[in-house]
Amino acid sequence: MNPMSIRDDLSTTARESFSTSEPLSVVGVCLDEETWAVLKLFAESAPLIRLRSHLSDYRVQDSDSAAECLGTPAPDICIIDFDRDRRKAATVAENIRSAIPEIAIFAVSADAQPDLIIQAMRSGCSEYLLKPIGREQLLNAVARVGGRRRERTQPFRAQVLAFMGAKGGCGVTSLLTQLGALLASSLSKKTLIVDLHPDFGDAALYLGLTKYRYHFFELVENNDRLDSELLQSFLNRHSSGLDLIPAPEGNDTPRRILPGAVAQTFDFLRGRYDYILVDMAPGLSDENLEMIRHCDQLHVVTVAEVSALRNVVRHFDYLTRKEIPRERFRVILNRHQKRSLISDGEIEKTINQRIFWKVPNQYAHVVKAINGGDPIALLSSSDVTKNLKELASSLGAKASSTEKKKDSSGFFGLLGR
Ligand SMILES: Nc1ncnc2c1ncn2[C@@H]1O[C@H](COP(=O)(O)OP(=O)(O)OP(=O)(O)O)[C@@H](O)[C@H]1O
Ligand SMILES: [Mg+2]
Repeated sequence: MNPMSIRDDLSTTARESFSTSEPLSVVGVCLDEETWAVLKLFAESAPLIRLRSHLSDYRVQDSDSAAECLGTPAPDICIIDFDRDRRKAATVAENIRSAIPEIAIFAVSADAQPDLIIQAMRSGCSEYLLKPIGREQLLNAVARVGGRRRERTQPFRAQVLAFMGAKGGCGVTSLLTQLGALLASSLSKKTLIVDLHPDFGDAALYLGLTKYRYHFFELVENNDRLDSELLQSFLNRHSSGLDLIPAPEGNDTPRRILPGAVAQTFDFLRGRYDYILVDMAPGLSDENLEMIRHCDQLHVVTVAEVSALRNVVRHFDYLTRKEIPRERFRVILNRHQKRSLISDGEIEKTINQRIFWKVPNQYAHVVKAINGGDPIALLSSSDVTKNLKELASSLGAKASSTEKKKDSSGFFGLLGR
């Protein structure tokens, strides 16, 4: 094997990432001799990584033992060989990911089948390195981790707040654009809206920002070369100070996003904002599920109608089965009216959860805001704006909702509860 002269190969970005950093600590799991030798050579030829230890078996069999097996403090990178036993390797990756979320996990394998790559990424690996590991691919993967570590030391650490309608038209985009503009202008918070609709997103339209070049999924596709400069070309600034990354227009060719790529992109964005509000299409697509796993809070926006409430229940049941913690869910009741056919109490019993926030019904004002492309100027004294200002101030502070006892009688029977 030729000696590596990694220093010569460092791209500017990678060099910048490491110039002021300590080497990244690495623990290997079940690596074959050749791979371990490649890593050793890599570590010796440039101070980018420091090999800490090698576990010769897949012993991390639950998340409780992960920290103990990998040592304290936790390493920056864990490299797992998937060839000896793929199932065990995936379990180890999952356990490590859930015990130490900030760690980077690389899968190593001689098998390049797309299904196997996807499985490894789903188990929590952010990189899939093919044997024999080449200097370039190792360098790029390590540089990405270094770049992300640098991002983490930046002053911002955004709360990622996802919003999804219980069904179409519940008011997600109206509320989110107003909330974003209020956070940015009234509270001077650095705020970004990401429109995660696969097509036909409305956030750009509601903000009057219709002349954009790139959309969010192009950012995700380029996430391996993401830096401040690239990000700038995706941002659209609203007069309130709010930034927007829009959705595709709808006439794009279908794309396949690698599992993990959405979460990685958000990791990068978190380092640059106080709040990131995500406008999600209704439904439980893979991208939505990944987003829900990654966000701090999921706000399900509903209205007081049987079909919407039934969907809230279905969503929460499904997400609970997917092991998303219940504390992450919040319900926003939009178009709230005191004299509704279904009372607030009935709604809370049905969805088995407290209503986190109620937004009043004020159609004329909301439509004016949408048509004007300026979500707050026209609304400064409206009840909706006052209400959303209070929500903006309380975000993050509100305690998570409390579960309520199930009841299967009367109106609730309609929903099969
Ligand atoms: N608080 C409110 N009071 C009255 N009308 C409202 C309110 N919030 C939203 N609306 C109205 O509801 C309609 C749908 O709103 P919006 O487009 O924001 O919903 P959405 O959930 O984003 O829809 P989609 O599923 O298409 O993305 C709009 O006509 C809007 O004006
Ligand atoms: Mg919408």
